[in-house]
Amino acid sequence: MKDIIEQLEDRRQEARLGGGQKRIDAQHARGKLTARERIDLLLDDGSFEEFDMFVTHRCTDFGMQSQKPAGDGVVTGWGTINGRLVYVFSQDFTVFGGSLSEAHAQKICKIQDMAIQNGAPVIGINDSGGARIQEGVASLAGYAEVFQRNIEASGVIPQISVIMGPCAGGAVYSPAMTDFIFMVKDTSYMFVTGPDVVKTVTNEQVTAEELGGASTHTRKSSVADAAFENDVEALAEVRRLVDFLPANNREKPPVRPFFDDPNRIETSLDTLVPVNANTPYDMKELIHKLADEGDFYEIQEDFAKNILTGFIRIEGRTVGVVANQPMVLAGCLDIDSSRKAARFVRFCDAFEIPILTLVDVPGFLPGTSQEYGGVIKHGAKLLFAYGEATVPMVTVITRKAYGGAYDVMASKHLQSDFNYAWPTAEIAVMGAKGATEIIHRADLKDPEKIASHTADYEERFANPFVAAERGFIDEVIQPSMTRKRIARAFASLRNKSKTMPWKKHDNIPL
Ligand code: HXC
Repeated sequence: MKDIIEQLEDRRQEARLGGGQKRIDAQHARGKLTARERIDLLLDDGSFEEFDMFVTHRCTDFGMQSQKPAGDGVVTGWGTINGRLVYVFSQDFTVFGGSLSEAHAQKICKIQDMAIQNGAPVIGINDSGGARIQEGVASLAGYAEVFQRNIEASGVIPQISVIMGPCAGGAVYSPAMTDFIFMVKDTSYMFVTGPDVVKTVTNEQVTAEELGGASTHTRKSSVADAAFENDVEALAEVRRLVDFLPANNREKPPVRPFFDDPNRIETSLDTLVPVNANTPYDMKELIHKLADEGDFYEIQEDFAKNILTGFIRIEGRTVGVVANQPMVLAGCLDIDSSRKAARFVRFCDAFEIPILTLVDVPGFLPGTSQEYGGVIKHGAKLLFAYGEATVPMVTVITRKAYGGAYDVMASKHLQSDFNYAWPTAEIAVMGAKGATEIIHRADLKDPEKIASHTADYEERFANPFVAAERGFIDEVIQPSMTRKRIARAFASLRNKSKTMPWKKHDNIPL
C-alpha cells in the first residue's frame, strides 16, 4: 500500500509541474504566476479540491501521442472564497500555451455543469493561445461546448473571467459571455485575431498592447471591466467582488458585518451641490458618503466616466449604484454611458441586487456622432433595463433631471419604488435658457425680456416641487439625511415581489 500511495504522489507531483520547470521559470520571468499559484491566491487557504488532474488529450496527429502532460493545460476544481463555494478553472500556459483541446474543454464544461447545478459562481482564469491547432475541429467543438454553457449559466450564476496572458481566437469569446472581465496590465491581451493577421489582412501595423492590451479594453472597447497591476492584485480584487455577489439567482447576496451607523447624518452633503447649476461636483463623493464604511467597488471605472457604476453595501447588504457624474460631459447620457449602465442594471436585476440611482443629468448628448452611432437604440437599452428591472429601486435626484434622461434614470414611471429629490433638484423638459429660447422665440432680440422669461421658468420648474405635487417624487429630503432615508427605504423593500407578464424572453434593443 505504501508503494501505491507513493506512486500516486509521484503522479500528482508530475501533473503539478504542467509543462515542466523550464516553462514555469519562463512564466515567472514574464511576471506571471502559474495556473496553480493563481488558484492558491484566489481561494481560501487549503480549500481547493481538484478534478481531472490526470486527464490527457487524445490527439495522435503531429506527433502529439508522445506528449501527453497530465491535466492537459487546465487546472479545474472547486474551493471557497471567504467560506463561500466557487468553481474555478485556470489555464496552464506552460502546457501547449494553455491552448484548448477537446479534453481541456471537457474539463471546463464539467466545472460549468457542476456550478450551474449547485448554484455557485464560476471563475475562469484565462491564459491561452486559443484553439489547440493540432486538434482542428475537435478543438472548435470544445470551444462551442464551453460557450453554450456560458450562455446557459448567464443570469443563473455569476461568471467572472480573469485574463492573465495572451488570449486569442476562441479564448476571448468565452470571457465575452461572462458577467465581468478583469485584465492584468502589460501581461494580458485579448483579440479575435492577433497583430500578424491584422497586418496581413488590413496592412495595419499595431502592437499586441495597442490591439488588445488592458488599456485598450478598459478605456476604448469596454470589453474589460477593470485592469490591475499584477496577478496578485487582480486575484485579491476578484475575491473582493465575489463578496458582493449572491451565489446564484435564487439567493440574496451575503450580509456582511457592518460598523457604520445606517442613521449616520452627513452634514457635508448639505453643501455638496454648488450654488451655480453649471459648476460640477464629484458624484463619487456622494457614493462614498452613502456607503457602509465608504466602500465602493467600481465597475468600468475607466470607460464612459460620465456615468458611475459599482457596488456598495448599506446595512451590510449589497446595493448596485448607478450615478451620473457631473464632472465628465456634465453628466450627459450618451451611447457609451447608456450601454455601460444598462448592462450593469441588468446584472443587478438578474441577481436580485437592489439598485440605487443618483441623478444629475442635463439630458442626452446631442450631435451627429451620437445620432450616427445609434444613440436612440443605445439610450433605449438603459430605459429598457430599468423598465424591466423588478428588484428594489431607490432613486435620488440631486440636481438636474432633464428631458428623456429624467424618464430613463429610474424615474417613478419606470416603477422605481422610492423617488427622492434633494431641494436643489431641477426637474424639467430642459434647462431654463434653452426652454426660454424656444418658447419665447419672438423675444430673442430683447435680452431683458429673455432674462425675465428665464427667471420665470427657473422659478416655476427649476425645483423638485412640480414633480412632487404630482407624486412623481415621493419626498423632498435633506441631503445630509440621505443615507438614513435610503437605508430605511431598502430595508422596507427586502420582501419586494414583482413579476412581469410571461414571455419567452424580451427583445431589448441590442
Ligand atoms: C497549440 C500552441 C498554441 C495553439 C501556442 N502554442 N498557441 N499550441 N495550439 N493555439 C504553444 C507554442 O507552440 C509553444 O509551444 C507554447 O504554446 C508557447 O507559445 P509561444 O508562441 O512560444 O509563446 P508566446 O511567444 O508568448 O506567444 C503566445 C501566443 C502565440 C501569442 C498565444 O503562441 C500565438 O499566437 N499562438 C497562436 C494563436 C492562435 O492563432 N490561436 C488559434 C486561434 S483560432 P512550445 O512547445 O514551444 O512551448 C481559434 C478558433 C476558435 O481559437 C474560434 C471559436 C469562436
